[in-house]
Amino acid sequence: MNKINIGLIGCGTVGSGVVKILKKNRELYQKKFNVQIAVKKICDKNPTIAQKLNLKKKIFTTRASDILLDPSIQIVVELIGGLHPAKEFILEALKQKKHVVTANKAVIAKYGTELFKYALRQKRNIYFETTVGAGVPIINAITEGLSSNRFTGLYGIINGTSNFILSEMSETLCTFSAALAKAQKCGYAESNPTLDINGMDAAHKLAVLVRIALGKTVALEQIHVEGITQISHDDIRYAKELGLVIKLLAIAKNVDGGIELRVHPTLIDEDHPLASVDGVFNAVFLQTDPLGDILIYGQGAGQMTAASGVVSDLINCATKGDRIAKIRTSSIAFEDRTVKLRKISQIETQFYIRFMAIDRPGVLSKITGILGKHGISIDSVNQKVQKKRFAVPVVMLTHRAKENQLRQALEKITNLSVVRSKPVAIRMENL
Ligand code: HSE
Repeated sequence: MNKINIGLIGCGTVGSGVVKILKKNRELYQKKFNVQIAVKKICDKNPTIAQKLNLKKKIFTTRASDILLDPSIQIVVELIGGLHPAKEFILEALKQKKHVVTANKAVIAKYGTELFKYALRQKRNIYFETTVGAGVPIINAITEGLSSNRFTGLYGIINGTSNFILSEMSETLCTFSAALAKAQKCGYAESNPTLDINGMDAAHKLAVLVRIALGKTVALEQIHVEGITQISHDDIRYAKELGLVIKLLAIAKNVDGGIELRVHPTLIDEDHPLASVDGVFNAVFLQTDPLGDILIYGQGAGQMTAASGVVSDLINCATKGDRIAKIRTSSIAFEDRTVKLRKISQIETQFYIRFMAIDRPGVLSKITGILGKHGISIDSVNQKVQKKRFAVPVVMLTHRAKENQLRQALEKITNLSVVRSKPVAIRMENL
């Protein structure tokens, strides 16, 4: 029997889930993988955890060094989140020749390159399945299952909280804040939920995916990020009338030899498989060569789904970590210097535009005139009937338009005296 001692740094929601799974499935893992994973030490600020988890008090410590410097511990599980001291703990674990399992998307997104290079020098592994889609094996699929492929497009619903909010708003017509409160109560949201709704959580995850799928290190500043806070019930409803659904998508797309990286609310056809990914579910739609299109789907946030990802990493690391560390880490640390990024101003998509305009002759022609002057062709126009007819919502779909031209046109439209609200513009993807 292969006995592996692990040390857990951070034992909050996910860590407690990990302890529970290891306990519940101990015999299964012994029989199936011939491995016994023993929690040797747990480091946490909260001393009541031992009691809650029904564990001996002596395995708890408040000093991470008790784990990092313990020679009998082979795998360190970092679950404290945030950049510091998580990064330093990971580096120290590698220095002490331990493998690392982490669920920390922020640290992998920002310092991944440095950490993987150091892991390679130390001939150790960093497993990070839970950084994207919690326990849904997206990282594993890209790094192993799809290793023969090139990736030409990646479209992900990778923030469970925003997807939950958009689904709730669409299905139950509840308010944005009621849906957010429910997501927090279910344990889906980050401790700072702003990161979920402003798109940054999805951006961290996109940076991780781009690193492993394309071998490109990206700084968060290189990703164009918009969250879901500006999405209203009206937009969800008008989109539905057009046969479209609004999703917060993380996109990495190869266009003319350059990669577009963006996270923003996106309209997609209601018949596309991504459109039916609802609630806290995550999905990544990959366009690959030679395999073709593939969708990976499952619950992407929540205590036990995240803990399941961590335990799968532990099993992978415990059963084959030493043997494959060099080849695995070098493939993850691989940099493709030929990958170039495209700026958001260069992109071209169809747009949904909505604004409030005064309902009188000649108004629409002024607006369409501006769009025409900027080379933007209109696909459909719909003026919504309202009882109070002074200013009415106008919804337009454009044909494919250049981002910078659309922005210039919208600025001019906003300045028209007949337009009574700042136009809302949502990009559309034809997948
Ligand atoms: N807050 C994250 C989400 C949890 O909502 O997707 C999983 O990373």
